[in-house]
Amino acid sequence: MKIAVLISGRGSNLQALIDARRDPGWTSEIVLVLSNVADAQGIERAEKASIATCVIDHREYADREIFDAAMTEAIEATGAELVCLAGFMRLLSTPFIDHWRDRLINIHPSKLPDYKGLNVHQRVLDAGETMTGCTVHFVRPEMDTGPIILQATVLVQAGDDADTLAARVLEQEHLIYPEAVRLIADGRVTVDGEQALIDGNVLYPND
Ligand code: GRF
Repeated sequence: MKIAVLISGRGSNLQALIDARRDPGWTSEIVLVLSNVADAQGIERAEKASIATCVIDHREYADREIFDAAMTEAIEATGAELVCLAGFMRLLSTPFIDHWRDRLINIHPSKLPDYKGLNVHQRVLDAGETMTGCTVHFVRPEMDTGPIILQATVLVQAGDDADTLAARVLEQEHLIYPEAVRLIADGRVTVDGEQALIDGNVLYPND
Protein backbone atom coordinates (compact mmCIF):
# COMPACT_ATOMS: atom_id res chain seq x y z
CA MET A 1 0.00 0.00 0.00
CA LYS A 2 1.35 3.38 -0.99
CA ILE A 3 1.11 5.97 1.74
CA ALA A 4 1.67 9.71 2.03
CA VAL A 5 2.61 11.21 5.39
CA LEU A 6 1.76 14.82 6.20
CA ILE A 7 3.88 16.58 8.80
CA SER A 8 4.66 20.01 10.18
CA GLY A 9 7.52 19.39 12.59
CA ARG A 10 9.55 16.83 14.50
CA GLY A 11 8.27 13.79 12.66
CA SER A 12 8.86 11.11 15.29
CA ASN A 13 5.68 9.32 14.21
CA LEU A 14 6.89 9.56 10.62
CA GLN A 15 10.13 7.94 11.83
CA ALA A 16 8.13 5.11 13.40
CA LEU A 17 6.42 4.53 10.04
CA ILE A 18 9.79 4.66 8.24
CA ASP A 19 11.31 2.19 10.70
CA ALA A 20 8.38 -0.20 10.25
CA ARG A 21 9.95 -1.13 6.90
CA ARG A 22 12.17 -3.45 8.92
CA ASP A 23 9.20 -5.37 10.32
CA PRO A 24 8.48 -8.74 8.73
CA GLY A 25 5.22 -8.67 6.81
CA TRP A 26 5.23 -4.86 6.34
CA THR A 27 3.77 -4.24 2.90
CA SER A 28 3.50 -0.44 2.84
CA GLU A 29 5.71 2.09 1.15
CA ILE A 30 5.89 5.79 2.01
CA VAL A 31 5.79 7.42 -1.41
CA LEU A 32 5.63 11.02 -0.17
CA VAL A 33 6.36 13.08 2.91
CA LEU A 34 4.57 16.38 2.57
CA SER A 35 5.22 19.28 4.95
CA ASN A 36 3.75 22.74 5.15
CA VAL A 37 6.93 23.86 6.96
CA ALA A 38 10.15 23.95 4.96
CA ASP A 39 12.55 23.27 7.83
CA ALA A 40 10.50 20.57 9.56
CA GLN A 41 12.77 17.95 11.12
CA GLY A 42 10.60 15.28 9.52
CA ILE A 43 11.80 16.38 6.07
CA GLU A 44 15.36 15.50 7.08
CA ARG A 45 14.19 12.14 8.35
CA ALA A 46 12.51 11.42 5.00
CA GLU A 47 15.55 12.51 3.00
CA LYS A 48 17.78 10.29 5.10
CA ALA A 49 15.46 7.38 4.29
CA SER A 50 15.48 8.30 0.56
CA ILE A 51 11.76 9.10 0.56
CA ALA A 52 10.35 11.75 -1.79
CA THR A 53 9.50 15.02 -0.04
CA CYS A 54 7.43 18.01 -0.91
CA VAL A 55 6.96 21.34 0.88
CA ILE A 56 3.72 23.21 0.30
CA ASP A 57 3.76 26.42 2.30
CA HIS A 58 0.21 27.29 3.35
CA ARG A 59 1.15 30.98 3.50
CA GLU A 60 1.45 31.04 -0.28
CA TYR A 61 -2.21 30.13 -0.80
CA ALA A 62 -5.18 32.46 -0.73
CA ASP A 63 -7.25 30.22 1.49
CA ARG A 64 -7.39 26.83 3.16
CA GLU A 65 -9.34 25.10 0.39
CA ILE A 66 -6.87 26.15 -2.31
CA PHE A 67 -3.96 25.03 -0.12
CA ASP A 68 -5.67 21.70 0.55
CA ALA A 69 -6.38 21.23 -3.17
CA ALA A 70 -2.67 21.70 -3.89
CA MET A 71 -1.91 19.01 -1.34
CA THR A 72 -4.42 16.62 -2.90
CA GLU A 73 -2.84 17.19 -6.31
CA ALA A 74 0.65 16.47 -4.96
CA ILE A 75 -0.53 13.38 -3.07
CA GLU A 76 -2.49 11.98 -6.02
CA ALA A 77 0.52 12.42 -8.32
CA THR A 78 2.30 9.81 -6.19
CA GLY A 79 -0.52 7.26 -6.34
CA ALA A 80 -0.83 7.22 -2.54
CA GLU A 81 -3.80 5.19 -1.33
CA LEU A 82 -3.67 6.25 2.32
CA VAL A 83 -2.83 9.63 3.83
CA CYS A 84 -1.37 9.65 7.35
CA LEU A 85 -1.41 12.84 9.38
CA ALA A 86 1.58 12.80 11.70
CA GLY A 87 1.82 16.07 13.59
CA PHE A 88 0.37 18.05 10.69
CA MET A 89 -0.59 21.29 12.38
CA ARG A 90 -3.12 22.76 9.95
CA LEU A 91 -6.85 22.34 10.14
CA LEU A 92 -8.11 20.64 7.00
CA SER A 93 -11.04 21.83 4.91
CA THR A 94 -14.16 19.69 4.61
CA PRO A 95 -13.67 19.16 0.83
CA PHE A 96 -10.18 17.72 1.50
CA ILE A 97 -11.48 15.47 4.29
CA ASP A 98 -14.44 14.32 2.19
CA HIS A 99 -12.18 13.65 -0.80
CA TRP A 100 -9.99 11.36 1.31
CA ARG A 101 -12.84 9.87 3.34
CA ASP A 102 -11.82 6.55 4.94
CA ARG A 103 -8.37 6.96 3.36
CA LEU A 104 -7.14 9.65 5.78
CA ILE A 105 -5.95 8.80 9.31
CA ASN A 106 -4.55 10.75 12.23
CA ILE A 107 -2.76 10.09 15.50
CA HIS A 108 -3.84 12.03 18.55
CA PRO A 109 -2.18 11.97 21.99
CA SER A 110 -5.27 11.16 24.06
CA LYS A 111 -7.91 8.48 24.28
CA LEU A 112 -10.52 10.09 22.06
CA PRO A 113 -13.20 11.26 22.43
CA ASP A 114 -11.54 12.65 25.58
CA TYR A 115 -9.15 15.59 25.30
CA LYS A 116 -9.53 16.71 21.72
CA GLY A 117 -7.42 19.66 20.63
CA LEU A 118 -4.05 20.95 21.78
CA ASN A 119 -2.14 21.04 25.09
CA VAL A 120 -3.55 17.62 25.90
CA HIS A 121 -1.09 16.39 28.50
CA GLN A 122 -1.29 19.46 30.71
CA ARG A 123 -5.08 19.31 30.60
CA VAL A 124 -4.99 15.60 31.54
CA LEU A 125 -2.76 16.41 34.53
CA ASP A 126 -4.84 19.42 35.58
CA ALA A 127 -7.95 17.23 35.58
CA GLY A 128 -6.24 14.71 37.89
CA GLU A 129 -6.67 11.82 35.46
CA THR A 130 -5.03 8.53 36.39
CA MET A 131 -4.99 7.24 32.81
CA THR A 132 -4.48 8.68 29.37
CA GLY A 133 -3.29 7.30 26.04
CA CYS A 134 -3.37 7.81 22.31
CA THR A 135 -5.65 7.11 19.36
CA VAL A 136 -5.35 6.37 15.64
CA HIS A 137 -8.57 7.29 13.84
CA PHE A 138 -10.05 8.00 10.46
CA VAL A 139 -10.51 11.74 9.99
CA ARG A 140 -13.87 13.45 9.90
CA PRO A 141 -14.54 17.18 9.44
CA GLU A 142 -14.98 17.91 13.14
CA MET A 143 -11.52 18.14 14.73
CA ASP A 144 -10.22 14.96 16.41
CA THR A 145 -13.29 12.92 15.61
CA GLY A 146 -13.81 9.89 13.41
CA PRO A 147 -13.90 6.10 13.53
CA ILE A 148 -11.27 4.79 15.95
CA ILE A 149 -8.87 2.16 14.62
CA LEU A 150 -6.56 1.60 17.61
CA GLN A 151 -5.91 3.04 21.05
CA ALA A 152 -3.26 2.53 23.71
CA THR A 153 -3.52 3.31 27.41
CA VAL A 154 -0.83 5.04 29.47
CA LEU A 155 -0.97 5.37 33.26
CA VAL A 156 -0.31 8.79 34.74
CA GLN A 157 2.43 8.47 37.36
CA ALA A 158 2.97 10.49 40.51
CA GLY A 159 5.36 13.30 39.67
CA ASP A 160 4.51 13.35 35.97
CA ASP A 161 4.67 16.70 34.24
CA ALA A 162 3.40 17.38 30.74
CA ASP A 163 6.80 16.49 29.25
CA THR A 164 7.28 13.16 31.00
CA LEU A 165 3.70 12.17 30.24
CA ALA A 166 4.03 13.23 26.60
CA ALA A 167 7.19 11.13 26.26
CA ARG A 168 5.48 7.98 27.57
CA VAL A 169 2.40 8.55 25.41
CA LEU A 170 4.68 9.10 22.40
CA GLU A 171 6.28 5.68 22.91
CA GLN A 172 2.82 4.18 22.51
CA GLU A 173 2.03 6.38 19.51
CA HIS A 174 5.08 4.93 17.81
CA LEU A 175 3.69 1.43 18.34
CA ILE A 176 0.04 1.91 17.40
CA TYR A 177 0.52 4.12 14.33
CA PRO A 178 2.49 1.52 12.33
CA GLU A 179 0.19 -1.18 13.65
CA ALA A 180 -2.89 0.69 12.39
CA VAL A 181 -1.28 1.19 8.99
CA ARG A 182 -0.40 -2.48 8.84
CA LEU A 183 -4.00 -3.48 9.65
CA ILE A 184 -5.29 -1.22 6.86
CA ALA A 185 -2.68 -2.46 4.38
CA ASP A 186 -3.62 -6.04 5.19
CA GLY A 187 -7.27 -5.27 4.42
CA ARG A 188 -8.36 -6.00 7.98
CA VAL A 189 -10.02 -2.63 8.62
CA THR A 190 -13.45 -1.71 7.32
CA VAL A 191 -15.50 1.38 7.99
CA ASP A 192 -19.24 1.29 8.46
CA GLY A 193 -20.38 4.90 8.72
CA GLU A 194 -18.77 6.25 11.86
CA GLN A 195 -17.56 2.87 13.08
CA ALA A 196 -14.28 1.18 12.25
CA LEU A 197 -14.13 -2.61 12.43
CA ILE A 198 -11.08 -4.85 12.61
CA ASP A 199 -11.60 -8.32 11.15
CA GLY A 200 -15.30 -7.46 11.25
CA ASN A 201 -15.25 -6.76 14.99
CA VAL A 202 -16.07 -3.50 16.74
CA LEU A 203 -13.18 -2.75 19.11
CA TYR A 204 -14.10 0.84 19.94
CA PRO A 205 -17.85 1.40 19.85
CA ASN A 206 -18.76 4.80 18.54
CA ASP A 207 -21.56 5.72 20.95
C1 GRF B 1 2.17 13.70 18.35
O1 GRF B 1 2.02 13.79 19.73
C2 GRF B 1 0.85 13.39 17.69
O2 GRF B 1 0.02 12.62 18.49
C3 GRF B 1 0.25 14.76 17.52
O3 GRF B 1 1.33 15.60 17.20
C4 GRF B 1 2.53 15.04 17.72
C5 GRF B 1 3.47 14.90 16.57
O4 GRF B 1 4.74 14.48 16.96
N1 GRF B 1 -0.78 14.73 16.51
P1 GRF B 1 5.80 14.03 15.85
O5 GRF B 1 5.96 15.20 14.89
O6 GRF B 1 5.25 12.81 15.18
O7 GRF B 1 7.06 13.76 16.60
